[in-house]
Amino acid sequence: MGKYVVTGSASGMGHAAAERLRADGHEVIGVDQRDADVVADLSTKSGRSDAVRAVMKLADGVLDGAVFAAGVGAHAGKERLTVEVNVLGVTELLMALQPELAAAGNAKVVVFGSNSTTSTPFVPRRAIRMLTAGDTEGAVKLLRRRGPLAAPASYAASKLAVSRWVRAKAVTQQWAGSGIRVNLLAPGPVLTPLLRDQLASSSGKHVRSYPVPVREYGTPEQLAEWVMMMLSPAADFMAGSVITVDGGTEALLRPNDWPSPLPVRRVPRMLAALRNAPRSGQVADYSDV
Ligand code: NAI
Repeated sequence: MGKYVVTGSASGMGHAAAERLRADGHEVIGVDQRDADVVADLSTKSGRSDAVRAVMKLADGVLDGAVFAAGVGAHAGKERLTVEVNVLGVTELLMALQPELAAAGNAKVVVFGSNSTTSTPFVPRRAIRMLTAGDTEGAVKLLRRRGPLAAPASYAASKLAVSRWVRAKAVTQQWAGSGIRVNLLAPGPVLTPLLRDQLASSSGKHVRSYPVPVREYGTPEQLAEWVMMMLSPAADFMAGSVITVDGGTEALLRPNDWPSPLPVRRVPRMLAALRNAPRSGQVADYSDV
């Protein structure tokens, strides 16, 4: 049986994933700001450092996997909180715990993104770049200039930044090359306390207006099953993927945007990747193909 760290274990999808892992006999180190093995505030630098120290102690050198589900929704005036928890609450913990994950040999990591990454308009691209580069201060300033749209733009920007960070890192020597499979789960609306709060807030009308072709919200238990699949050996052949589970919203809004052919401007990057293939992960032996 394995040992897994789950952030956001006190509620919603993190709670459902932790329960599901425990039901299968795994050991879970839950991290949350309440009701958890490790109680820590992931919105502050010191809280994140405390969380890392406590998890390391409980992990005792090895982690078979990690689920990053702690997150904050879109709240007016709380742009900084949103980006600190949703971005740094993942990236800082993941970087610090890399040695424990590498020690397992075939660890799996699931990071919660969101389908807001592809279905929210008016998200400044510069803010995403700033967040990905670690300039939280600058990004928050820029996002606040969006006025009444600052909250949804900050939420989407935080999820875009963490998703891009994960995709860029997942395929490197430090992660895929160290046996660690890092992937993203991007839910649409799932009935958890986070969504219930949003539905009851002043933006509830807007949240309700988003089309969901399957005509129902997801459940935390359904998403926990996807987490289990992404932690299983089925994910050995997966790195940097975004699994969208959203009742069809993204396909409805963006049917032709993805998949799309490689744009010409990306050809130099592709050629560089081909040149670096032995380092970046060329399969050694094609004799069975
Ligand atoms: P939830 O609100 O039910 O659970 C989130 C957990 O994160 C809570 O237990 C909360 O205490 C913890 N958390 C928040 N701030 C924290 C902090 N500063 N320090 C430590 N823990 C903190 O939310 P839900 O819906 O289960 O969300 C899980 C993830 O899925 C989040 O990252 C969310 O952004 C994402 N998501 C949720 C969707 C939904 O419709 N529910 C849709 C798309 C993505």
